[in-house]
Amino acid sequence: MIYMSVTIGTPLQASAFKVLLLGSGELGKEVVISLQRLGVEVHAADRYDHAPAMQVAHYSYTLNMADAEELKQLIEQVKPNLIIPEIEAIATQVLVEIEEQNIATVIPSAKAVNLTMNREGIRRLAAEELGLPTSAYRFADSIESFRAACDDIGYPNFVKPVMSSSGKGQSRVKSFDEVDAAWEYAQTGGRVNQGKVIVESQIDFDFEITLLTVRAKNAETGEIETQYCDPIGHRQDAGDYVESWQPQAMTPAALEESKRIAHKVTAALGGCGIFGVELFVKGDKVWFSEVSPRPHDTGLVTLASQFQSEFELHARAILGLPVNTTRHSVAASAVIYAGVDDTNLSFSGLNLALSHPDTDLRLFGKPEGFKRRRMGVATARAETTDQARELALHTATQVSVQQN
Ligand SMILES: Nc1ncnc2c1ncn2[C@@H]1O[C@H](COP(=O)(O)OP(=O)(O)OP(=O)(O)O)[C@@H](O)[C@H]1O
Ligand SMILES: [Mg+2]
Repeated sequence: MIYMSVTIGTPLQASAFKVLLLGSGELGKEVVISLQRLGVEVHAADRYDHAPAMQVAHYSYTLNMADAEELKQLIEQVKPNLIIPEIEAIATQVLVEIEEQNIATVIPSAKAVNLTMNREGIRRLAAEELGLPTSAYRFADSIESFRAACDDIGYPNFVKPVMSSSGKGQSRVKSFDEVDAAWEYAQTGGRVNQGKVIVESQIDFDFEITLLTVRAKNAETGEIETQYCDPIGHRQDAGDYVESWQPQAMTPAALEESKRIAHKVTAALGGCGIFGVELFVKGDKVWFSEVSPRPHDTGLVTLASQFQSEFELHARAILGLPVNTTRHSVAASAVIYAGVDDTNLSFSGLNLALSHPDTDLRLFGKPEGFKRRRMGVATARAETTDQARELALHTATQVSVQQN
């Protein structure tokens, strides 16, 4: 007996299969495009108008998604089949209730979204419940306990607000002299002024990877199976990714261990979809760092390297459809920043950027730029990852941003 998966209706008609995207950034935009291709009706929400994914959705909504009442009201209005949280700053308790009451399916699961929105939740799950290798860590919620935690962990260490992402409020503390400044910075840089931070020992890694891990249903049995993309190497600057490449060469033992860790953590989080498992690697040794229960920014490279990008893989997996994680090329990606704080920006040099046949671009269409805001990405294919990185970086620098 072949298992019966989802039925997709007609968008904008009564039979529509509806998805509500909470957070409408550049990663969400690619997920929406993938869903649109499969005839899904897409509703996109964010806290500001004209966010990237809103521009390609059927309907869009501007609201404060961290406000439980506003979020509940939106879900009641849209009546989605699936809810895809694309950012972490959401009233996740509402999603837990929605899932409990069987009102909609939360992607990948309310538990996953709830645990990963806070560094404490996911770290305790990985290290204490699952016994996975991580950096040494302490949590602190006052200046006194923070000083003690820093001394306990030693120097250098990494300090991060438990509710933060993309390097916000993070610092690398090299000695006791820097402790008080790191506390101050963490207090102003977190997502919500919650005060709590994690102090992590520095892992002396050779390189770091994202192991894109997909939990998708087998087409015949309906059983959830775990599949992996080839490892993605990346370079971070101030906690934010600047370039990535695929595949990252590593020892067979390290790859095996990476898959073991990714399998364990994604199975514990549950549901269907793609996860970006961030790992530190030194020789054969691997440490778990963190996990996104959604496409990962470093995975933009898969637009150029795989038959199904991480966005298509996610769209298929959440609809209960089979996936193919095969890579067809060696590729790299490089970020394009605004470089200025302004709205109404223009992009030129695109002809030069795309003059090489193995390059491509995505411009996200963000209504406002900041110096370090990601406005687009360049991708490139080549024989080796070094060549692909060079070409992607070159392509990105050909694009110039102008104020109007
Ligand atoms: N304990 C550690 N040891 C060594 N390097 C670390 C450690 N923690 C963080 N880093 C470095 O800082 C980067 C950002 O850290 P982390 O991924 O925890 O932050 P983030 O704000 O969630 O970033 P993003 O949202 O971009 O993934 C890591 O990719 C790594 O390069
Ligand atoms: Mg990270």
